[in-house]
Amino acid sequence: MARRPLVVGNWKMNGTRTSSQKLLADILAGLPDGCATDIGVCPPAIFIPEASAAVTGKLIRLGAQNVADQDQGAFTGEISASMLREFGCSLAIVGHSERRAIYGETDALVAARYAKAIAHGVTPILCVGETLEEREANATFAVIDRQLGAVLDLCGVESLQDAVIAYEPVWAIGTGRTASKEQAQEVHAYIRAQIAARNADVAAKVQILYGGSVKPDNAAELFGQPDVDGGLIGGASLDAQSFLAICLAA
Ligand code: 13P
Repeated sequence: MARRPLVVGNWKMNGTRTSSQKLLADILAGLPDGCATDIGVCPPAIFIPEASAAVTGKLIRLGAQNVADQDQGAFTGEISASMLREFGCSLAIVGHSERRAIYGETDALVAARYAKAIAHGVTPILCVGETLEEREANATFAVIDRQLGAVLDLCGVESLQDAVIAYEPVWAIGTGRTASKEQAQEVHAYIRAQIAARNADVAAKVQILYGGSVKPDNAAELFGQPDVDGGLIGGASLDAQSFLAICLAA
């Protein structure tokens, strides 16, 4: 498969200034030369300037955990894509299920955030995924259609040439209950097929990451699936050795 593997750590709201500096330093120190996997980290926003200095000239990409749906102005608490660019962020997570569920982000808002990332040359990592209730109601594909559809309607399928998708089943996030490799592959293949129906070339190229309780001991089998191109890692990305082991598995 021509797609390069990508593993991104989502640190969420964890750590201290000192611990996050150490985590990044330990990851950088442990990266093997000529690593064939693209690697990114998304620290809490306030740690981005220091992280940016630390990764300059290194093979790690820096990302944010969210990005504003506006360019500038009276939007208290938001950080624009151009601000992220200024600090060397080339990635931004959008539509994480915690943003959707806890902070009420709608499909339309997520699509608008995605659009701003694209417009400013920041690669959005669009998170999609169903809750346990939705899976048990056989609504997984309908949820994916809705979440992906909002973005494709606003930005078009070609925008995915500059984006990454992350399938993160909500029931697998932080629960220790990972999707089986078959469950992951089924949904990843579905996502790719939906994209292929609009543009086969884009579908063949877009990286689709899996997220949800990825650990060093299950990463290889998940990443071994034909449509799984890497991972978006939460808890295990807070430990340099675990994160590096997952990167190597990719
Ligand atoms: P965990 O790896 O802790 O399950 O988190 C996954 C996630 O939400 C990454 O964005």
